[in-house]
Amino acid sequence: MKRLTSILLSLLIVGSSVLGGCKNKNTSEGKTPESSAATSSVAAPTDKEADIVVIGGGGAGMTAALQASQNGAKNVVIVEKMPQTGGNTVYATGGLNASETSVQKKLNVKDSNQSFIDETIAGGKKLNNPELVKTMVEGSAAAVDWINQIGGDLSELGRSGGMSVDRLHRPKGGAAVGPMIVKTLNENIEKENIPVLLNTTAKEIVLNDKNAIAGVKVADASGEYTIKCKAVVLAAGGFGANSDMVVKYAPNLKGFGTTNHKGATGDGIILAEKANAALVDMEKIQTHPTVEPSTSVMYTEGVRGDGGILVNKEGKRFINELETRDVVSAAILEQPEAISFLIFDQAVREKLSAIEKYINLKIIEEAETPEELAKKIGVDPAAFAETMKAYSQAAASGVDKDFGRKEMKSKLDKPKYYAGKCAPAIHHTMGGVKINTVCEVLKADNAAIPGFFAAGEVTGGVHGGNRIGGNAMADIIVFGRIAANSACKYVEANGGYTEPSIVLEEAETPAVPEVKGNFKDGEYTGKGKGNNGDIEVKVTVKDSSIVSIQVTKHSETPGIYENAEKNVINSIIKKQALKVDTVAGATNSSKGIMEAVNNALNQK
Ligand code: FAD
Ligand code: FUM
Repeated sequence: MKRLTSILLSLLIVGSSVLGGCKNKNTSEGKTPESSAATSSVAAPTDKEADIVVIGGGGAGMTAALQASQNGAKNVVIVEKMPQTGGNTVYATGGLNASETSVQKKLNVKDSNQSFIDETIAGGKKLNNPELVKTMVEGSAAAVDWINQIGGDLSELGRSGGMSVDRLHRPKGGAAVGPMIVKTLNENIEKENIPVLLNTTAKEIVLNDKNAIAGVKVADASGEYTIKCKAVVLAAGGFGANSDMVVKYAPNLKGFGTTNHKGATGDGIILAEKANAALVDMEKIQTHPTVEPSTSVMYTEGVRGDGGILVNKEGKRFINELETRDVVSAAILEQPEAISFLIFDQAVREKLSAIEKYINLKIIEEAETPEELAKKIGVDPAAFAETMKAYSQAAASGVDKDFGRKEMKSKLDKPKYYAGKCAPAIHHTMGGVKINTVCEVLKADNAAIPGFFAAGEVTGGVHGGNRIGGNAMADIIVFGRIAANSACKYVEANGGYTEPSIVLEEAETPAVPEVKGNFKDGEYTGKGKGNNGDIEVKVTVKDSSIVSIQVTKHSETPGIYENAEKNVINSIIKKQALKVDTVAGATNSSKGIMEAVNNALNQK
């Protein structure tokens, strides 16, 4: 049975439809007439039923599903088109902005909701929907507590551009916020037995003759089918990875790279528009100023928040590095070759563990002295050394005469010194589906579409003309929870909750990457030496991450080997690391699997 489970797990991860469309769990069909008619082991696509269908397994969607379940709705299902949950959320690094929080209180940081509102609206060029901003800000402290209560870690504070107070909540040691949030949500979704249909794409929002929600048409490897439902929470993210759509709304962004995951293609916006939803602010698209040009890896704003500066090819600063992103991006584009270098020292590195990812990816130059660093990045050493000296003095005195920067947390005088080349890339799409403060999806006349709710980057209006770093995390948790509350109220008023129709037979933790990998997309095969002979694997890399490993051949000892297969594969996928712990009692099998995966990925 264990072996069967692990085969099923592999099949589930790669998105086979042998279980009728439910991908992250071993499930049986519900009691609907259609589904009970399926007798073959390869089930034909059959219609399913749920109370609430959540479209998108990113931060907003998983928050909404979890909150709905906490409210008592048990027939909730998430459909996610990618082979794993996480969306752009798993990439989030800097943190989550919130004001008047228990964490700020503990760390003696004085803040007010009004200041958070004012700075969000100023940063958004006064184009934000003020009611949505107020709702986000007033829900932000509870969002921090909620994440911490469900097992997350938002215990430290940093600062993002455009904010006058440390309100960027992040995990201990300055770790990236997104992997922590996604891991926490995944674990709770697992605990609450909420089915997540991976590799399942929402194709159409189905309305009834009263133009109210009736279901969602989806497609997976087995074909198309409809999940009938009372309510939909649309949480399919933005369109930062859809260059045609970006250029359609903002032609000036043609040719820009993107920080976004591959699934950020704007499907949700297109689906909602076809279901009569109005769109707002579609042309408002943000670039992130510090993105490494050849890999599109974003250097978190937290590096500048914790003390980093920007210099140009002449080795000179050119902007207050803690200005908002639109201002910093525009300033970089005016520099020679339209590039910049993000500079920090050992003190900054030690405060912000998120930096280790950039070091591991080898996209950072390092040196013992500013002069040596300047030579490595092709900048005039004398000019750069002078810039560093002047900045150290400014940081020591607290007065930045040149650019008026107020927050200088590091004097940048502790070796080693570090530099990362960067330029702006498409990062966030501020526009999207029009919603009100209870997340109802609105038509052009502001009437709500009954049963239709939306949250997260798929919506528009919260961030106006420019999103403040850290505000998307607040947005997705606050509005994800509100969307769930509204959907639950709607379901209660329209027939009430039903029992789960997609029943879980056994719990298995799906292998979901905790961190983004750095591998080349494709399918690879490899061989390693196990205890009794060769172990062969097939490895699938999607979106730069290892998403599945299937053992295609082995002759290991039954009863000992299975544990190694399950745990080693899960660890490799979760950590995106080629060397992980071996399993006690199955050391040779564990090593053989690792060797096979290493060999597969070295065939590039
Ligand atoms: P996502 O997390 O993108 O989830 C949407 C999901 O819907 C995806 O999994 C997608 O595959 C799925 N989907 C799409 N279409 C379909 C379909 N047709 N059917 C089924 N599923 C579908 N914000 C901050 O506040 N702080 C940060 O530190 C931060 N750092 C960032 C770093 C990077 C590199 C990036 C790219 C963004 C960052 N952001 C940050 C922004 C933030 O991560 C996103 O705005 C936010 O995570 C969006 O969450 P979401 O749930 O709305 O969308
Ligand atoms: O720079 C960052 O860490 C990104 C933050 C954000 O997009 O909010």
